Amino acid sequence: MPTDLSIQCNSDVFPFNPGRIKTLSNWLLKQCGAADYTVSILFVDDKKIRRLNVQYRNKNQPTNVLSFPSGEDADRSLLSIPVRELGDIVISADTAYRESIEYGQSFYDRIAWLLTHGMLHLLGYDHEKSSEHAKKMFDKEKLLLTRLQFYRKKMMTKLAINVDHVATIRQARGISEPDPVSAAAICELAGASGIVVHLREDRRHMQDRDVFLMRETIKTKLNFEMGANKEIIKIALDLKPDIITLVPENRQELTTEGGLDIVSQKKKIAKVIEKMTRNNIPVSIFCDPDSKQLKAAKDAGATFVELHTGTYSDAADEKAREHEYRLLVSAAEIACQLGLRVYAGHGLDYQNTGPIAALDTIEELSIGHAIIARAVFTGLDQAVREMLDIINRAALSI
Ligand code: PXP
Repeated sequence: MPTDLSIQCNSDVFPFNPGRIKTLSNWLLKQCGAADYTVSILFVDDKKIRRLNVQYRNKNQPTNVLSFPSGEDADRSLLSIPVRELGDIVISADTAYRESIEYGQSFYDRIAWLLTHGMLHLLGYDHEKSSEHAKKMFDKEKLLLTRLQFYRKKMMTKLAINVDHVATIRQARGISEPDPVSAAAICELAGASGIVVHLREDRRHMQDRDVFLMRETIKTKLNFEMGANKEIIKIALDLKPDIITLVPENRQELTTEGGLDIVSQKKKIAKVIEKMTRNNIPVSIFCDPDSKQLKAAKDAGATFVELHTGTYSDAADEKAREHEYRLLVSAAEIACQLGLRVYAGHGLDYQNTGPIAALDTIEELSIGHAIIARAVFTGLDQAVREMLDIINRAALSI
């Protein structure tokens, strides 16, 4: 365990999230080239930090953070530390909280700054030595905090919700309820970053009225899934969704069965992409985790690919799932290297989404059935929030 965390103050008063603090500390260790070193972090109150400040720095006042490098010599390089222990960082939660209010930061952001500052001290940086040392330390601090901002934004995998399944229930009765347009609004209010609809040629679930109404009401992002056929292309151009996703469509299928075979119809797909691009509509292609298909998607001009997670989700046992997971991990990396932006979806549920959401190569997940199925019992708002919770925890666990 690289980070040992101890909270010795009243943790009810402050919004502590030990998992998040440890993740942050481990991330800092990694960024500083010290991933295989341990560090001990201690949260105390003002009374305790004042005592330490008197004892070690002869200053009779509380302070925000104190660092105690292991070994005698604080002025050292990593290589000269004999044991793989950097030392202790002591943070006053009282002062951190006061400062967060004073500087208009969240408590967690203040902790992030203090932890970074304390960690750099453990690594031999010292702003009190000279102005040159101070500059070196503050430059490094700024770099780490900027990287952290970027990392945290990037890490937050987004959730787009496919509301076709609501339309499927409605169509079973052939009446007007439940309305997928209302479902989309509830998903957005619960925190979804986008809504996905598939207007099939056979109009099995979504109807034209649904997608045009959603174009008016959706506040986040409308992702229009479609087969590459003439009628639907015309509708997409009228609709002007925020993005389209090209999928294979087969009359007999219960749901989309696999990625589009881009290799065998690259020219046709490239033409559709060109048309959409001329109309400022970015294109994603639903794609199996296969490097040839990814390369073809790039050649055809796609901006995004959505990796098909159906085989991973349907895997018969752990071994098969592990195999499918590895294919997805490597496909997402290949896609990123090709300059494609990566989404993923199909068959994801409350059990199997975590490992996919933890991949920093994947920006967004498209999930439908599992959320709508749970919503029958818990309500849609709750079902969306529970999935978001899984996704956010996974992203923070890296
Ligand atoms: N992505 C695509 C391309 C799909 O066709 C579907 C299913 O409509 C999904 C994601 C969502 O899959 P599920 O409903 O299994 O979550």
